[in-house]
Amino acid sequence: MYYNDILKFNYIIGKALVENTHEQLEEDDIEYILAKHDIKYPSFIQDNFKDVFFLEEENQWLDMVITNIRNIDNEYKQAIAWFGLFQSCIIKRPYNLFHRANLYVRTDEVKRSFGNKTTWDKSFKDHFVNFVDEANRAVFDNNQECKSLNYDVLELPIEDYDFDLVYIDSPYITSKGVGTDYLDYYHFLEGMLDYDNWENKILPKYKHKPLKGKGESPWTKKNEILDAFDKLFKRYRDSILVVSYRSDGIPSCDEILNLLKKYKKNIRELKKTDYKYALSHKKTEEILFIAE
Ligand SMILES: C[S@@+](CC[C@H](N)C(=O)[O-])C[C@H]1O[C@@H](n2cnc3c(N)ncnc32)[C@H](O)[C@@H]1O
Repeated sequence: MYYNDILKFNYIIGKALVENTHEQLEEDDIEYILAKHDIKYPSFIQDNFKDVFFLEEENQWLDMVITNIRNIDNEYKQAIAWFGLFQSCIIKRPYNLFHRANLYVRTDEVKRSFGNKTTWDKSFKDHFVNFVDEANRAVFDNNQECKSLNYDVLELPIEDYDFDLVYIDSPYITSKGVGTDYLDYYHFLEGMLDYDNWENKILPKYKHKPLKGKGESPWTKKNEILDAFDKLFKRYRDSILVVSYRSDGIPSCDEILNLLKKYKKNIRELKKTDYKYALSHKKTEEILFIAE
């Protein structure tokens, strides 16, 4: 079983949860990660992300914990630690994203009609310990080779693998043409994984300091995404293709179907109706294409 994602933080999560057969983060590892050691800790997040995503003391905690995690030798233990840190960062963010410099949404003294503030204000340490426990409990061996990969889906060296079935859950563009730029949404987590070189990768013109590459993916552009799907289906045409999709997207379901017909003989379409996404008021249909 293989898991692939272009973003490094997802690849690391894949290492912790898919590739990892038995390593868990033990009590003493957690203690090490959460303690301040006799190290000269760097201050990149404190210096560059003041008032952007997290409070000052939280930024300081992040600079320390990232440094400690990078000192863990075992790659699977380290991946579980990253998982714990990524999830803690995500859950403490308004909208669970890093696409705006909007710490004020959390800190402003306003009357709130929803309860996320408690979660935002819960300490990094408490979230981290909970998420690590969650990941530890998810580790198991299915006695098959499982691997996490980190390629652009159109550049993955398929000659090295033998995929009998490829499940595709691509980024999604709404009927209004609004794409999902995962790099822009999660750049802060990607940055942590290249901490020493983070500075050189930032696009400084934005307040939320995203990474270079923001807005460049064909999967976020309504005039390029159809061609990207075509290349994708062509590349993996020797495998069964299973595509998750939504009824109100660009390209349309008919366009996806026609593309699949170019490479596959037998196509089934499963629909799950009345699906409503969090933060969305519109009902859409979840669709699964199975092309053999
Ligand atoms: C809809 S999400 C998939 C979510 C995943 N199935 C899950 O349940 O967690 C789309 C994913 O595609 C990844 N992605 C975007 N462009 C890609 C590319 N060119 N190659 C590989 N992965 C890509 C994004 O980083 C994102 O994680």
